[in-house]
Amino acid sequence: MNAELMFVSGMFLASRNSGLLRLGGCSARVSGGVGRAWTGRSRVRMAAEVIDGRLIAGQVREEVSVEVAEYTKQTGKAPGLAVVIVGTRKDSQTYVRNKRRACDKVGIASFLFELPEDVSQGELVKVVDDLNNRNDVHGILIQLPLPEHIQPEEVLDTIRLEKDVDGFHPLNIGRLCMNGREKPLFIPCTPKVNLPNHYMNGDVLAVDYNRYDRMFDRSKLQSNRFAKQLPPARPDFGSHVPPQGCIELLDRSNVPIEGKNAVVLGRSNIVGMPVSMLLMQRNATVTVCHRFTDDLENKVRNADIVVSAVGRAGLVKGDWVKPGAALIDVGINAVDDPSDKRGYRLVGDIEYEAAKERSGWITPVPGGVGPMTIAMLLRNTLEAAKLAMG
Ligand SMILES: NC(=O)c1ccc[n+]([C@@H]2O[C@H](COP(=O)([O-])OP(=O)(O)OC[C@H]3O[C@@H](n4cnc5c(N)ncnc54)[C@H](OP(=O)(O)O)[C@@H]3O)[C@@H](O)[C@H]2O)c1
Repeated sequence: MNAELMFVSGMFLASRNSGLLRLGGCSARVSGGVGRAWTGRSRVRMAAEVIDGRLIAGQVREEVSVEVAEYTKQTGKAPGLAVVIVGTRKDSQTYVRNKRRACDKVGIASFLFELPEDVSQGELVKVVDDLNNRNDVHGILIQLPLPEHIQPEEVLDTIRLEKDVDGFHPLNIGRLCMNGREKPLFIPCTPKVNLPNHYMNGDVLAVDYNRYDRMFDRSKLQSNRFAKQLPPARPDFGSHVPPQGCIELLDRSNVPIEGKNAVVLGRSNIVGMPVSMLLMQRNATVTVCHRFTDDLENKVRNADIVVSAVGRAGLVKGDWVKPGAALIDVGINAVDDPSDKRGYRLVGDIEYEAAKERSGWITPVPGGVGPMTIAMLLRNTLEAAKLAMG
């Protein structure tokens, strides 16, 4: 239980950027865009830094709202997100309400399309097609799950690539996996990261990011002359898209990724697979685990970074964690809790309290990865609006 102190060359070192250094087992530090550098030299451990997803998501939303205001001022119209919901599932309605509320707060226009449970696939595809052609809609989100009589892939594949703000289009996913080829336009929101900006030329879209740089450089806003003389299109893998998602949580907490052993638990298309690709692109050595993986414990024991996206409470035991490791818990699980008025509480996949004692950084559930997902959706919608200017 007791934290040890980082003691180097006879001096106690406080965390470089973050809050409390835990003395005698008091509180954990909380990071929100701050953090500490990994040090192999520490002979003694500090309490885990709790990565505050709410705080970081708030920072991202704030950044998005500044850029949305600039975009709106420059173009005379707000970025627009269309949200399509089929049926009356309460959880889906809640998610949709939260997404629209988040849009309102940052100045993104949201358009709601509520379709009856028995809508045909053809009718739904037609709605998506119409949205593909609307100039005021830059991003399209289909709230999942869809009723059983509808093939979600058929509908999702209808979304135009440059409006695929959820990042589920096969071409976006495929490009995420292709080293050195065109980058995806959008990456699924949960794992999203500071991939170099996405550049596509020719067949689908040509984008001049220099123009965006000029447009969104506040110091040059006044002199901006949109689109008059654009430099020739060229691949630009600069980093002016701020880091986002699971990996944004790592980045904003100053967790080093390059050269580290990363273990990803889960290989789903929406979390495990893309996050493992993103970690690999950041030069981590990545092990992807799934239901058939032998000896999960040993994999986790060797991991500097663990991302768990399984959906099983307590899957990762606290004493498996390598001291100082960074733990990103994507899992959301309801466990019985008679002391809670709802009768349950939400936990992640990782044994939080025990893991916090050994890890260097950890995300709580709730309040870790979850809040980032909507923030990423807002950022993707803004990026989609910028793409539409091209
Ligand atoms: N915070 C957020 O914003 C957010 C967003 C999305 C999802 N989530 C949560 O993240 C979790 C995962 O979501 P998902 O959609 O990726 O789930 P999913 O599609 O069900 O995938 C679960 C993955 O876990 C693997 N798995 C299952 N049991 C395992 C075990 N014992 N050991 C190792 N791997 C195992 C599965 O392996 P196989 O491939 O072999 O079946 C699969 O790859 C869920 O709790 C979900 O609620 C949170």
